[in-house]
Amino acid sequence: MLESFVRPAIRRYEETDGVAVLQLSQKYASWDSTPTEADIQGFRSSEPDFFLVAELNRRIVGFVCGRESKNVPDEVLRKWKATKVGSVEVLAVEEKYRRRGIGTQLLDTLFQAFTKRGIDTVTLSMPAEEIGAKKLYDKLGFETRGYFLKKKL
Ligand SMILES: CC(C)(COP(=O)(O)OP(=O)(O)OC[C@H]1O[C@@H](n2cnc3c(N)ncnc32)[C@H](O)[C@@H]1OP(=O)(O)O)[C@@H](O)C(=O)NCCC(=O)NCCS
Repeated sequence: MLESFVRPAIRRYEETDGVAVLQLSQKYASWDSTPTEADIQGFRSSEPDFFLVAELNRRIVGFVCGRESKNVPDEVLRKWKATKVGSVEVLAVEEKYRRRGIGTQLLDTLFQAFTKRGIDTVTLSMPAEEIGAKKLYDKLGFETRGYFLKKKL
């Protein structure tokens, strides 16, 4: 079957995915600072169920990493009507495999894992220049709550 019609398998990150995931992070997910091998290991040890890869023909074509946000103040939880909050830390899909639903598949699977743990609200920060990512999050129903500003003095 033509590769473009095949959906990748979404599964938990394994040790042997390290090089591929690091390459994807460095190519596509470097927002001012580039993720290091230690960051990747950190994602894995913080919560293996929230670190997922998309595998197609034994190739890693995308990944997502989420985290439970501990220490959210009660007042914020009340305002958000949230029980537990999670965040999307990093998401990237190899360029030639984009626009065929892999980013959505990764996020849907992460959100299912979040829901199983009682996480009912998701936040994330992203570079303003990633117009495609903003469109994806808008489509998934994310609400823009603020802007991150920077100026050189
Ligand atoms: C953001 C990213 C993960 C999206 O991956 P993807 O597999 O292409 O996403 P999907 O195919 O699931 O896209 C779903 C929908 O999002 C929107 N979308 C995604 N990329 C888009 C783009 N470049 N332009 C316009 N809309 C886009 C579309 O509505 C798309 O549906 P459609 O193709 O049926 O029109 C990928 O572009 C990427 O790796 N970007 C670089 C890293 C990045 O920005 N990460 C997120 C920051 S946290």
